[in-house]
Amino acid sequence: MKTDHAPSSVRALTVTAPRAPLSGSVHVPGDKSISHRSLMFSALARGTTHITGLLEGEDVLRTADAMRALGASITRNGPGTWTVQGCGLDGLGEPADVLDMGNSGTAARLLSGILASHGFTSVMTGDASLRGRPMKRVMDPLAATGATFLARRGGRLPLAIAGNANPPPLSYRLPVASAQVKSAVLLAGLNAVGETRVEEPVATRDHTENMLRHFGASVRVEPMGAGGRVITLQGRPDLVACDIVVPGDPSSAAFVLVAALLVPGSRVSVPGVGLNPLRTGLFTSLREMGADLVISNERVEGGEPVGDITATAGSLHGVDVPATRAPSMIDEYPILAVAAAHATGQSRFRGLEELRVKESDRLAATVALLEANGIRVEVVGDDMIVHGTGGAIPGGGLVHTHMDHRLAMSAIIMGLAAARPVSVDDTAFIDTSFPGFVTLMNSIGAGLGA
Ligand code: S3P
Repeated sequence: MKTDHAPSSVRALTVTAPRAPLSGSVHVPGDKSISHRSLMFSALARGTTHITGLLEGEDVLRTADAMRALGASITRNGPGTWTVQGCGLDGLGEPADVLDMGNSGTAARLLSGILASHGFTSVMTGDASLRGRPMKRVMDPLAATGATFLARRGGRLPLAIAGNANPPPLSYRLPVASAQVKSAVLLAGLNAVGETRVEEPVATRDHTENMLRHFGASVRVEPMGAGGRVITLQGRPDLVACDIVVPGDPSSAAFVLVAALLVPGSRVSVPGVGLNPLRTGLFTSLREMGADLVISNERVEGGEPVGDITATAGSLHGVDVPATRAPSMIDEYPILAVAAAHATGQSRFRGLEELRVKESDRLAATVALLEANGIRVEVVGDDMIVHGTGGAIPGGGLVHTHMDHRLAMSAIIMGLAAARPVSVDDTAFIDTSFPGFVTLMNSIGAGLGA
């Protein structure tokens, strides 16, 4: 498959604090997790699914290409509006070429579950960041499907999968809190006769469970221990096409809202943000820091809770974020660290081991982001401790983003709240999750690239 929409050229940026407050109301792009799933699951369903609000970021476009290569007919009808003609369960066919998942761990991990349970051979690869990320976490449980996996050393992509069209149902207890691993096991269970069971000691985002139900599968979710869950999927469901409305991505709204909290005098609204409780840990933590975040117009759209969020600038204080909250805000630690750098006093974020295996080693990269800009930060075991300045961040540093979109956006927001300019080595990867980010920030007064 041609890699014709990879972020190709480096885009460096130097960010200075805006002269006036940020203000306005802006829609953020569709949720990335839900967008991947809507393309994959509709490709496995019978009939035509209509999707609105689909994120058209590079990561999701890779998923669209992969599902097309596996036989689904996928059409873009207009901005965010797509139709998918599904192949039906077990209807996917062998791809003619290598599937290139670009920068997307979610696409690669979820697709592994689908490919392991189809009777053909396929090969997946990705960009340098994705080729460095662990796939063993999905290969281990999926080996019990009878599929054969051949990966590079350390379980890295490229990865060849010879699938088994008649897999047994799996029963698996997640050793790491990962919605991607949970989803891979459940997706393999679609083609298995009988019940697939996943135990998660800490609940992770449940978009797979919600959306499979939406397509007609029988999925049972029961509480387990303190905050855990047992998910049981009945195999070989009749998945039937349906309409999907993708909410605004809370992980993308995070950058806009934190910018509004930190730039003095600002007030910004983001309508239509997904508020699934397994995604809103950042908003809880910001409120604990004293942030003025108001949620209004709460409603349910396409089976997911949604609301409008308004952030008003004000002073923040340090926060202690418990490890149990990490799965509900796992992608938000870099931007929370920027907020903590601006806050008064010390913040401690506990249990961040999973940050080491994101698009970059996000724990190390977030520490470097803060230190390069004059913030004292410590890592103690898997905890990060940020010593806030109680006002403008010193700034003046160069941030290395390591092909990681969320680091690039966090660095930009840091620059808006810093005393001296913050330089970012490469902002191109922002297109993987938030196309139009710079333009959107400028529409509320950020003055980026001016
Ligand atoms: C995702 C799960 C999370 C998250 C990622 C999206 C998903 O990864 O970091 O951005 O859509 O299932 P893990 O499952 O590795 O925690």
